[in-house]
Amino acid sequence: MAAMDSIRNIVILTGAGISAESGIDTFRGANDGRGGLWENHRVEDVATPGAYERDPDLVLRFYDMRRAAIQDKQPNAAHHALARLDREWAREPGRELLIVTQNVDDLHQRGGARRVLHMHGQHLTAWCGACDMRSPWTGPLAQRPPCPACGAAALRPDIVWFGEMPYRMDEIYAALRKADLFVSIGTSGAVYPAAGFVRSARELGIRTLELNLERSQGSDWFHETRLGPATQVVPAWVDELLGG
Ligand code: OAD
Repeated sequence: MAAMDSIRNIVILTGAGISAESGIDTFRGANDGRGGLWENHRVEDVATPGAYERDPDLVLRFYDMRRAAIQDKQPNAAHHALARLDREWAREPGRELLIVTQNVDDLHQRGGARRVLHMHGQHLTAWCGACDMRSPWTGPLAQRPPCPACGAAALRPDIVWFGEMPYRMDEIYAALRKADLFVSIGTSGAVYPAAGFVRSARELGIRTLELNLERSQGSDWFHETRLGPATQVVPAWVDELLGG
């Protein structure tokens, strides 16, 4: 990539594509021909506040299934490469790195990355509708277990549903304003506000790079798009950036 030595601050956005080769379904297809999660479940039945009001059992069972499904999956070479970048990039003074993920799995962390921000929430956290506390959670919620903080049977998945505000947007835009490079990995560019980060980056004059299996809805906005499976293109890019 051009002018690599002028890069100091990096913001990386990841999506479901980075976890696809770990065996976690993407939302919109292109996952070993199995189809995406949203081809088998209607968003409006399981991923909106209205769905939760109408049929909480269905919604809780859906996320119980997803929560169980991620826990025996392992981080892949792309997660490990970003973890290496996370360790090595900011070691030098004057350099910053932030991984913003739309993913609700914990594979970035289990791969070893530390500077990770979950803008769409996390499977392994439960959020209490009574006391507002968030608690680490690995088991099911459908049986209405008590909140560890207040005891109320009011825990919901800590997932940002359609129509809700993603988390930590101020921090994300603050990081973007300081960045010299924005990299998008494994995301279809179909869901805002994340899909709009590339345009914000362009307006800010930031270099933009996309790493994805195929061209995405946002591809035209990037200075450069590299196509291929995340387990190949992400380690190759990290090697390039860190000089092998
Ligand atoms: P999508 O399922 O929309 O898109 C996944 C992207 O990853 C697609 O562009 C695929 O081509 C690409 N992809 C698939 N396999 C890949 C691989 N092995 N290597 C690299 N890329 C691969 O997932 P997201 O863009 O993350 O939100 O979806 C965004 C949001 O929509 C999600 O966070 C979720 C969903 O509805 C909520 O639930 C709030």
